[in-house]
Formats: sequence, C-alpha cells, structure tokens
Amino acid sequence: MSWQSNLFEGRTVLVTGGTSGIGAGAALRFAELGADVLAVGLNARSPHTPVHERVRVVELDVTDAKAVSAFMSGVPALDVLLCCAGISRDRDEYDLEVFAQVLAVNLGATMRVAEAARPLLAQRRGSVVTTASMYSYFGAADRPAYSASKGGIAQLTRSLAAEYAGEGIRVNAIAPGWIDTPLSQGLQADPQASAAVMSRLPISRWGTPADVADAYVFLASPAAAYVTGVVLPVDGGYLTV
Ligand code: NAI
Repeated sequence: MSWQSNLFEGRTVLVTGGTSGIGAGAALRFAELGADVLAVGLNARSPHTPVHERVRVVELDVTDAKAVSAFMSGVPALDVLLCCAGISRDRDEYDLEVFAQVLAVNLGATMRVAEAARPLLAQRRGSVVTTASMYSYFGAADRPAYSASKGGIAQLTRSLAAEYAGEGIRVNAIAPGWIDTPLSQGLQADPQASAAVMSRLPISRWGTPADVADAYVFLASPAAAYVTGVVLPVDGGYLTV
C-alpha cells in the first residue's frame, strides 16, 4: 500500500454494502488510512463483516426509506460516501417483482442514500463513489435487472456529478471487473463461465476487494480533486479486448 497512512484521518466515510465483499474491503482500507468508517448493510454479524477499531458496522436496509433517513439524521458529519450495496438474482430477474427489487437495491438506493447524504457532504465538500460493473458496458441475457441497474449507475453518476458540482461534491463510479466475493461465488464455481472470463482477462487472475479498495481511495482522495463524473474500470484489462 503506497498511500500516506493518515490520508483520511479526521474524515468520516459511509459505506453501503460495507458488511461484505467489495464494500467490506473498502471499509477496511479507509479505516487503515485513518478514517472513521460506518459500514452499513445486511447481515451485520456475518463472518464477512470488516473488523477494525475505526469501523462501526450497522445493520441497515438501504431500500427502507424511513430507516435510511433515521440513520442519516444520526450522522454528525460526512466526507465520503461509497455506494457498494448490490444484489444479483440471475435468471429470476425475468420475474418483474425480482426485477424491481434488484433495481431498488442497486440503483434506487444509490440515489436515495446519495440524496440523504448530500447536505452533510456539501458541508465538507466531500465526494461520492458509486459501484458500476462490467455490465455497465454490455448487457447480460442471464441477468437483465442487474445489467439495467449497472447501466443506470453509470448515467446516475454522471447526472449527480453535474448536479452536485456546484456544492463542491464530486461523484464518480468504480466499475469492478471479476472480483472474488460472496456475490461472484456462483460464477467462479461454474467452470464454463469462469473459463470464459479468464480467457479474455489480460491480468489473468480474479480481482480482490483490496484491488478495488485502492481505486475508491483514489477517487475519494484530494489526488482526484479535478475528477468528477467518471466511471473507472478496475477490471484487470477485461474491457481492452
Ligand atoms: P457481496 O454480496 O459480497 O456484498 C453485497 C453487499 O450489499 C453486502 O454488504 C450486503 O449486505 C449489501 N446489501 C445487499 N442488499 C442490501 C440492502 N437491501 N440494504 C443494504 N445493504 C444491502 O457482493 P460484492 O461482490 O461485494 O458486491 C458489492 C458491489 O460491487 C455490488 O454493487 C456489486 O454489484 C458490485 N460488483 C461486484 C462485482 C464482483 O465481481 N463481485 C463486479 C462488479 C460489481
């Protein structure tokens, strides 16, 4: 790790989906860099939750508007919001109820939490980093809601970047490639699908939450002071071929 170890000292970082996988990895990295981190999500007591003295893990359903606004009213200050909460339901997404649920978690809740956090972020001229995907760039026959939500995240990120800039808030997205987390276990366990991924991956290994965490750090840091509205792939080169 090559960041200055106190880069986020005195800063507060809120991570949705901070109880597992990519969000948990990001929560830990910001805590290691001195931030006070609120890691919110489901299953707050699972073995995947981040453990660090500066990470507070809170059970919060981001689709619950009342719970989100009650939670935000208890947050005194905020410098960085990372929106990592996400689900995928594969072919079940052809059921319209499931389709709506995936959109609500992945896209609607990103908008909800960003808007709820906006006044606090404006006070500190903070920043938001959302979580897009390879499916922001191409569709997926076997996950129509997931890909629609991630295409939407790219556009929402650009829209909020334009809207929030006047308040000094930057908004960017990370588009992770194929990252080893609980969400991707099914894909990794499918030999055909997994081989197809690997065959077009120039950096020929699955990514880790730590690989992605450093990209969130960059976009949230002063080094990215003039960067807003971008979608940054962190994909081992998958999009190059
Ligand atoms: P994960 O399953 O390990 O973590 C998902 C997180 O979202 C958990 O903390 C979970 O509690 C939270 N979550 C789900 N529904 C929620 C709700 N209603 N309210 C609050 N929190 C909720 O998955 P992973 O892989 O860490 O995914 C994190 C993000 O990264 C997601 O947005 C996912 O779409 C995205 N992503 C993941 C990739 C991968 O290869 N693992 C690739 C590209 C994007």
